[in-house]
Amino acid sequence: MKKYLSASLMCADLTNLIDSIKDLEKAGIDYLHIDIMDGSFVPNITLGFDLINAIKKVTDIPLDIHMMVNEPSKFIDRMNLSGNDILCVHYESEIHIHRVLEMIKNKGCKAGLALNPGTPVDNIKHLTEYIDMLLVMTVSPGFAGQKMFLGAEKKVAEAKALLKEWNCENMLVEVDGNVSLENGRKLCRCGADIFVLGTSALFLKDKSITKAAEDFTKYILG
Ligand code: DX5
Ligand code: ZN
Repeated sequence: MKKYLSASLMCADLTNLIDSIKDLEKAGIDYLHIDIMDGSFVPNITLGFDLINAIKKVTDIPLDIHMMVNEPSKFIDRMNLSGNDILCVHYESEIHIHRVLEMIKNKGCKAGLALNPGTPVDNIKHLTEYIDMLLVMTVSPGFAGQKMFLGAEKKVAEAKALLKEWNCENMLVEVDGNVSLENGRKLCRCGADIFVLGTSALFLKDKSITKAAEDFTKYILG
């Protein structure tokens, strides 16, 4: 099955974002992962809606928006997205999560649902009709440069098995946080489909983006 690379823009050179985006295009990156944080759901604040709308004007790479905010329903209409873009909200961030997923589907883009490390995969069992992509967080969200949590591989394998059991094989599973070459290979073997690449594998001091993306794909499949 095809594997997808999603570049975590918060880890790019923010003083030169347009050049980074052009480099990501040349490297054949599949998605731009954009982290939206509110300082409340997670203890950090990063990128925002104006940046998303600006980025939509300069690239055709689909966006993979990861909202780490409380009550994301308040902000769904702030982004101009198209059918290939994924808008992902956290299961833990809204009491009536089904309503938010419906809002996203009505917007015309793809709906993603993210799970913190402690949230069981089984919780999404009755929501699968509304979800295109399941994001299994491999760190507690909020910061780049953290260490993958110890149950991550088991959780991704379990997610893939449950999706199969529920006849949802088409739902893509994304992993985000400390996706290095080594962890990427392990997570690939557990069945992960989309790999969010930040400081651990793509934005590196000693390697170009193109070389890092090439190395990652070769290594995880090897
Ligand atoms: C969190 C972000 C970062 C990103 C950073 O939602 O998307 O965690 O993965 O990559 P690493 O963990 O490699 O620095
Ligand atoms: Zn993220």
